[in-house]
Amino acid sequence: SQARIGLVGLGVMGANLSLNIAENGFPVAVFNRTGSVTDAFVASAGDLAERLVPAKSYEALVASLSRPRAVIIMVKAGGPVDAVIDALVPLMAPGDMIIDAGNADFHDTRRREAALRDKGLSFIGMGVSGGEEGARQGPSIMVGGNPESYAVIRDIIEAIAAKHEGVPCAAYFGPDGAGHFVKTVHNGIEYADMQMIAEVYGILRDGAGRAPAEIGTLFAAWNEGPLNSYLVDISSRVLGTLDPKTGQPIVDVIVDKAGQKGTGRWTAIEALRLGQSPSAIEAAVAARSWSAEKATRQAGKALFGDLGSEALPIPSEADLERALLAAKIIAYDQGFKILAAASAEYDWALDLASAAEVWREGCIIRSALLDDMASAIREGLPQGQLIFAPRFAGLIRDGATALRRTVAYAASAGVPVPAFANALAYFDTMRQGRGTSDLIQAQRDFFGAHGFERTDGGEGQHGPWAGSVAHS
Ligand code: 6PG
Repeated sequence: SQARIGLVGLGVMGANLSLNIAENGFPVAVFNRTGSVTDAFVASAGDLAERLVPAKSYEALVASLSRPRAVIIMVKAGGPVDAVIDALVPLMAPGDMIIDAGNADFHDTRRREAALRDKGLSFIGMGVSGGEEGARQGPSIMVGGNPESYAVIRDIIEAIAAKHEGVPCAAYFGPDGAGHFVKTVHNGIEYADMQMIAEVYGILRDGAGRAPAEIGTLFAAWNEGPLNSYLVDISSRVLGTLDPKTGQPIVDVIVDKAGQKGTGRWTAIEALRLGQSPSAIEAAVAARSWSAEKATRQAGKALFGDLGSEALPIPSEADLERALLAAKIIAYDQGFKILAAASAEYDWALDLASAAEVWREGCIIRSALLDDMASAIREGLPQGQLIFAPRFAGLIRDGATALRRTVAYAASAGVPVPAFANALAYFDTMRQGRGTSDLIQAQRDFFGAHGFERTDGGEGQHGPWAGSVAHS
């Protein structure tokens, strides 16, 4: 039988994506390196099995597809993706396409796209967000590659995607790595969102001595307001969950070392390459890395744990809520700036509003705010800054004092809040008409004759340093 699309890699994400495709009425050919996995998958698919075409070899997979052929790869990023591509390419014909649906480094996607294009094939880099449940019920999908190839599979992609008021949360963003880049920045923002929620948890747990369940109840209340989002919702559920083994709150039995597979770090690395510095996202990546240094932190506690502090009053719940909202908007501002910078660098003509739109449902960072963000971007961002947009400037103005109180409290009490503190530093910098880089420029000129611009526009781009005497 002929399938519209094929899928390689029947791990949880691949299996769920296949079921989602089948459920939407499209026959899908499925292949896994281990044949028994393919059999078990089809056997467990119930009624949907009739739309699954199990293949036991790459040849059989390709042979079962209608033309032009399209094969989704859902395997571990890196070498395994290249291995599958190498196996598929000799079996494909001009016009056929390979779609990488994993979390790829967009540089790899650019390289693979160029290599396949040379062979007359098409390579689509497709970011998919929403975890296991999203893959099955409707993820958010960010596509990059050849637009003619995307047009061939667009009906399938839009059918399987999450919907916001009926509109599919799937979009084409531009050539080669554009889709995977948008997904990478999504994950960078995801890191910042998660870290900021964890920082509030830290203030309430270590500063206010609140129990996890109480904090969970507060988050549940916030989830009914402007902070309404998937991550606040699941955080509230997590905090209310008990460990079946000990009966203690589950968070209390989880080791405080965060894992990371790289996408958050890639966001920071690519941003730095583009001359950006998304401080809240960088701080979230740093916080995960620092968290992994458990033994060091324990040694540090033995050495400095008794330092004590003169803590300022703890911020009110309302202040914490407003601080979290303001810091979150600042992190998104930084994320959208990275997208804009990459678009300019790689000539992608990225539609930033479209990114906000596909993130409204299905993905991990889905939240009530994203609809407003999309509108603000469509209306035009002053200076490219989300925080300057009329819709958000009011919230930021309103939340700035709360954010400042929160950071000041945390510093005074010795509770680390790297993402909040860095969001605030960025905000304060972006509202400082005259900063302190006059001195940096003078220092550079002093030791390296790097030159500077004068405020009066006048001539004389070097300082009169010769013979300058240091103050004693
Ligand atoms: C998503 C998630 C998903 C995955 C990441 C998390 O959008 O569905 O981002 O892609 O959970 O791999 O990355 P870390 O393992 O680095 O936290």
